[in-house]
Amino acid sequence: MKYNFDEIISREGTSSLKWEKYTGRDILPMWVADMDFKAPPQVLDTLRQSIEHGILGYTTVPETLNDVIIQKLWTLYNWKVKKEWILWIPGVVCGLNIACTTFGRPQDNVVTTTPIYPPFLSAPLNCGKKLVTIPMIDKNLRATLDFDTLEKELKKNSGLFMFCSPNNPCGTVFTKAEISTLVALCAAHDVIICSDEIHSDFVLDKNKRHIPTASISQAAARQTITLMAPSKTYNIPGLGCSFAVIPDERLRHLFESKMQGLIPDVNLLGLFAAQAAYKECDEWLSQLIVYLRKNRDMVVDCVNKMKGCRLNPVESTYLAWIDVRDTGLEDPVGFFEQAGVGLSDGNYFGQKGFVRLNFGCPESVLKEGLKRMTAAVKNL
Ligand SMILES: Cc1ncc(COP(=O)(O)O)c(C=O)c1O
Repeated sequence: MKYNFDEIISREGTSSLKWEKYTGRDILPMWVADMDFKAPPQVLDTLRQSIEHGILGYTTVPETLNDVIIQKLWTLYNWKVKKEWILWIPGVVCGLNIACTTFGRPQDNVVTTTPIYPPFLSAPLNCGKKLVTIPMIDKNLRATLDFDTLEKELKKNSGLFMFCSPNNPCGTVFTKAEISTLVALCAAHDVIICSDEIHSDFVLDKNKRHIPTASISQAAARQTITLMAPSKTYNIPGLGCSFAVIPDERLRHLFESKMQGLIPDVNLLGLFAAQAAYKECDEWLSQLIVYLRKNRDMVVDCVNKMKGCRLNPVESTYLAWIDVRDTGLEDPVGFFEQAGVGLSDGNYFGQKGFVRLNFGCPESVLKEGLKRMTAAVKNL
């Protein structure tokens, strides 16, 4: 079956976070990371069945859901996961915050890289810990980890490293060598890794593949909390369904104990949607990746022709991290809003002079957005 990602679906009046921001204004929202595509029909059918059944009660995690995840992680990554390692949580951000509260002593630092998805910057502060940020470095048009600085910081009372792999917003798909070095450094300094892999299904570069941090070695598994979800992949982020994989029993119990009484169970719609997504939507996902690849190529080509704008090759995600420092704009987000395009502000990711563009939308909408941006920068 051919899926139609060209379909324009109005999200007006649906309380969409992404679209509500610009209600009544001619601004195309290309900021928050959800896509303007319908979820796969198999997922929608499952949700319909639950609604038609009519009883929306407390729900246990279906055995078959854990089974399909175990199978998937094995097929995709050769990663052998046991059922008891999987903990269901209502959000990856929730997982980041639990990890920050749970690991490291109160006086220990939490280390992460910048630019980064903003909740990485707030999670340590939410639990009263000190945040240390290490800027990514650009090597051959690719943002990567600065291991020298990282090692210096990990030596200094660090309890947790928060890793975003693949990286939002830079799109980096980390290599086995990079992940191995990271794991070795963290192991040497007794630092736990919380590896947010929510974007792992969006590897767009045909020569790259995602490698779960914990799958690298026994040592990696012992020190890593992996966070994953069907939410971004199948465009169901509003259903609040994700999971942590924690192989080490001690870490898992610590994490679980912090959840007690505070973190609600994942609701039945999220669980059933996840099950249908992982079991029945491989073909939908492959077609989506082909579509996003085309969108990505258009964005990279077009943005690099815009005066003062620069974009590295986007290896993964449906997000483009655009360097606009050479435009000299003080408020690039305001400028592009004036031009009719709503982008995310680099400041919130810890890097001024950048904007993030979400290209998870029909091609025609993307074309219009890029046309507006091109016209606006021409007049600078
Ligand atoms: C890296 C990353 N982690 C987590 C999330 C959000 O996860 P959740 O909605 O499950 O809390 C996002 C959403 O954009 C993200 O990009």
